[in-house]
Amino acid sequence: MAKTPLPMKPTGWFQVAWSAEILVGDVRRMKYFDTEMIAWRSASGQVTVMDAYCEHLGAHLGYGGTVNGETLQCPFHGWQWNTEGRNVCIPYEKHPNKARRIRTYPVAEHSESVFIWYDADRREPYFDVTNVLTGFDDGRSAADYYPAYGHSTLFETALEIHPQYVMENGVDFAHFKYVHKTPLVPEFTRHDFEAPVSYVDFTIAFEDVPAGEVNSGVQAINSGIGVAATKSWGMIDNRTLTAVTPIDDSTSDIRFTVWIGRKPHDDSDQPTRRALEYAEAVIEQFQNDIHIWKHQRYSDPPALSPSEFKGFTAIREWATQFYPADFDCRKATTR
Ligand code: FES
Ligand SMILES: [Fe+2]
Repeated sequence: MAKTPLPMKPTGWFQVAWSAEILVGDVRRMKYFDTEMIAWRSASGQVTVMDAYCEHLGAHLGYGGTVNGETLQCPFHGWQWNTEGRNVCIPYEKHPNKARRIRTYPVAEHSESVFIWYDADRREPYFDVTNVLTGFDDGRSAADYYPAYGHSTLFETALEIHPQYVMENGVDFAHFKYVHKTPLVPEFTRHDFEAPVSYVDFTIAFEDVPAGEVNSGVQAINSGIGVAATKSWGMIDNRTLTAVTPIDDSTSDIRFTVWIGRKPHDDSDQPTRRALEYAEAVIEQFQNDIHIWKHQRYSDPPALSPSEFKGFTAIREWATQFYPADFDCRKATTR
């Protein structure tokens, strides 16, 4: 185990749950970015993620807090807080306490997932988290895929992993042969690290095809450092979402979701057996990555080969934009 030297409070979008885990009326406890938080879904369906402690006398709202229409009621003295974290009712006073507010986090909900925007300086979101099913601008939508939750997801908690380790997979052509047992080394056809949302495309062959003949590939859209969406072509139609969310200064949760393309004219919510088997194989490949990441020590500066230099340098430079301004990667030490 090796604690990462990289900052564990990066800026960006981070998945904190799958949508189905927070039904109307649910209050869910979570800890991310060293902060006790709760997520609750109001009667109208809106998810709010906020700090867990009541601004009155500090009850933890995740232990007995109840959803009341569009507000959350504290279990201690019944004060009610709205979806903006504002106090809207003190049951035994004429007026609410307008001055006090519980910190809330911007929420995005799509791709069967709930994301929060985290920024240590509390800036508003300045980029979006890409919808994995519609975001590749190819006319596809959720209707073209079997639902993933309950069928093809992976959750691992409290691993000594930094989100950047996972993003570095997107430039790491050499690991495919060893970690994923692909016969050919993938070829990157696009590396675009110009903006907070970055793009990586590569071709890959999982079957033995004559060298130079490519039969499949992957496109990836990284929405900041916490969330990566992929679309595959040439193999069974699938999409994946990889999300790494820091818990404290050394550990993160990983969520991985796989959607398999529907068989034509199949409206079922239940994926076919073949789809499930395929999703399982994709998850197994991802577990091979996790096995490396969770025992890895961040190497800085790394011993890169000539053909690795450009990709790794680009992604590590790109990553620094999500870290506090005073973070100096040259001073980050791993020993
Ligand atoms: S502590 Fe929440 S209402 Fe008193
Ligand atoms: Fe990998």
